[in-house]
Amino acid sequence: MAGHLAQSLSFSCSVQQWDSDEPIPQSELLAGVAGKDGVLCLLSDRIDKEVLDAAGPTLKVISTLSVGYDHLAISEIKERGIRVGYTPDILTDATAELTVALLLATSRRLPESVEEVKNGGWTTWKPLWMCGYGLSGSTVGIIGLGRIGQAVARRLKPFGVNKFLYTGRHPRPEGAAEFKAEFVPLAKLAEESDFVIVTCSLTPDTQGMCSREFFCKMKKTSVFINTSRGTVVNQDDLYEALVKGHIAAAGLDVTTPEPLPVDHPLLSLKNCVILPHIGSATYATRNAMSALAANNLLAGLKGESMPSELKL
Ligand code: NDP
Ligand code: DGY
Repeated sequence: MAGHLAQSLSFSCSVQQWDSDEPIPQSELLAGVAGKDGVLCLLSDRIDKEVLDAAGPTLKVISTLSVGYDHLAISEIKERGIRVGYTPDILTDATAELTVALLLATSRRLPESVEEVKNGGWTTWKPLWMCGYGLSGSTVGIIGLGRIGQAVARRLKPFGVNKFLYTGRHPRPEGAAEFKAEFVPLAKLAEESDFVIVTCSLTPDTQGMCSREFFCKMKKTSVFINTSRGTVVNQDDLYEALVKGHIAAAGLDVTTPEPLPVDHPLLSLKNCVILPHIGSATYATRNAMSALAANNLLAGLKGESMPSELKL
């Protein structure tokens, strides 16, 4: 599905498509974008200066099949007057649901427990065997109380969470009111949360934000969950925190790189649950994202307002 390239005619388009689930090779992308009016891309397609130069001055619209746009060279795109379509909102529920699933799988040690059933480790009922951490009475800290962050809080509240903390660039009183969430600095969120959930966007400010300093401030019994982007986390520091017991466990839907090499040290840890970037992966959501991305592209090509245009 990667690298769909469209050339507008008066009321119709000719479409050149990279017809594979595997990423489009850079050489094919550079050759394919030349002279095109629009590009429909995936989050795995890096649309940088080289690609924009290869496309040339005809390129008017980029439509990405994602809400995250850290793979797009936004300042270059803005400079060239290119419009950008993306897919916010329609994937919020699916991603929040997956975040909760990952949190429960990590904190209640589900993959490890399933493995024990299969490998004969389940010998009898033992009082402290496979114990984990529950949400009831807990403090949950959310980094980035945006669309997905709020949807996660909404789903966690009925589990009996005692207190929500959040951090970001600014307080968001409207979004926080429903959960009586308190805006705190990052360090306080790390120190006080039993569960830390990362749902922010990847920016130069958030890159590497969860580092050794951050993990050392967390409680030894706390659980770290990331469904935003892999590079918000310093993975070497996370590995150290998990091995040294600075934190109890981590659940990641996003990593650096993607896919994570199968011999990566994080994959050797029982207290780290890693998923292959499936936050928005329900059939309904991916279909809705595809339709929205196509409609964004077509509207942009026609010079009309897009259903979801990124404000640059
Ligand atoms: P929103 O724009 O609604 O939320 C982004 C949040 O990031 C805002 O709350 C913003 O906080 C926060 N943020 C920005 N800068 C900082 C900072 N310096 N420190 C802390 N927080 C910051 O986006 P969505 O909720 O729709 O999506 C969030 C991200 O989730 C996407 O960008 C994408 O990377 C990821 N995602 C992952 C999926 C997956 O499959 N795992 C699926 C969908 C999205 P502020 O209020 O301060 O601006
Ligand atoms: C996004 O949309 O940014 C996700 O990472 C995939 O849905």
